[in-house]
Amino acid sequence: MVNDRDEASPWVKTVVVPAAGMGTRFLPATKTVPKELLPVVDTPGIELIAEEAAAVGADRLAIVTAPNKQEVMRHFEAFPDLVETLEARGKQSQSDKVKRAHSLLHPIAVEQEKPLGLGHAVGLAESVLTDEEEFFGVMLPDDIVLPNNAMEQMVAVRNKLGGSVLLAVEVPREQTFNYGVFDIEATEEDGVKKVVGMVEKPEPADAPSNLVATGRYVLDKKIFDALRRITPGKGGELQLTDAIELLIQEGEPVHVVVHEGTRHDLGNPGGYIPANVDFGLRSEVYGPALYTQLKKIIANYEAEKGL
Ligand code: G1P
Repeated sequence: MVNDRDEASPWVKTVVVPAAGMGTRFLPATKTVPKELLPVVDTPGIELIAEEAAAVGADRLAIVTAPNKQEVMRHFEAFPDLVETLEARGKQSQSDKVKRAHSLLHPIAVEQEKPLGLGHAVGLAESVLTDEEEFFGVMLPDDIVLPNNAMEQMVAVRNKLGGSVLLAVEVPREQTFNYGVFDIEATEEDGVKKVVGMVEKPEPADAPSNLVATGRYVLDKKIFDALRRITPGKGGELQLTDAIELLIQEGEPVHVVVHEGTRHDLGNPGGYIPANVDFGLRSEVYGPALYTQLKKIIANYEAEKGL
């Protein structure tokens, strides 16, 4: 397995977080609250992403937001009055929670005026990268992956094999129409596949495999040039998948690390609820009572439904 961090090799500095979506699957909550601020237990999804990016060693979070979603950036501010009030009342652990997001890494706002697609959102981040950065990370806040250090291995693969590296999970074939799907070949590295093609949201019958993209990307800077050359694809949007496919066709190396851990989809209530249950059960504060409650809820449900 490729997972050693070689201190001499370049490391990921900037993580781009596309967070400009309308959150339609979460209406009516998202009329006023951006989807990325909905809590998993007590922590907004965007803060979990910032924690993951910081844990992987990045120091800048480029958040691509829509003009009406400024609260997402506000979450990373210092809130000195709130901190002072909490501390004056002896509420240190709450104060620490307030300070956490501000202390993790440096947030940078990138505004996406119109929802033109994930490819368009990622393309906008070009202006925030420094000249030294030959590659960067992308984390989609809808996808929570556990353990949260998958990108470490992806960067190590990039340093060894070059090009771009994505994270893949296996899904049942009938679900492939929701994802970017990989056409792959084996490599000599354990858990690493070479990508020979990628297609956005194909019909299950046309899916080249059941290995799909799951919201973590280490992208070579060449992606920006490819993003300028693609035309609107699936859903009429500029698709990141299509730019990656273009790079593959041009002979650029693209690999996937196959994720063996857990994945939650915070992008819709059907994935958000189990994510809260999973994180809730693991919480020292809420876990034990939640476990008891859940068992009761399930027993009642089974009795009611005759299961
Ligand atoms: C996006 C990408 C898709 C990827 C998915 C992972 O789709 O376009 O390739 O598989 O994220 O969550 P979305 O879920 O935004 O429609």
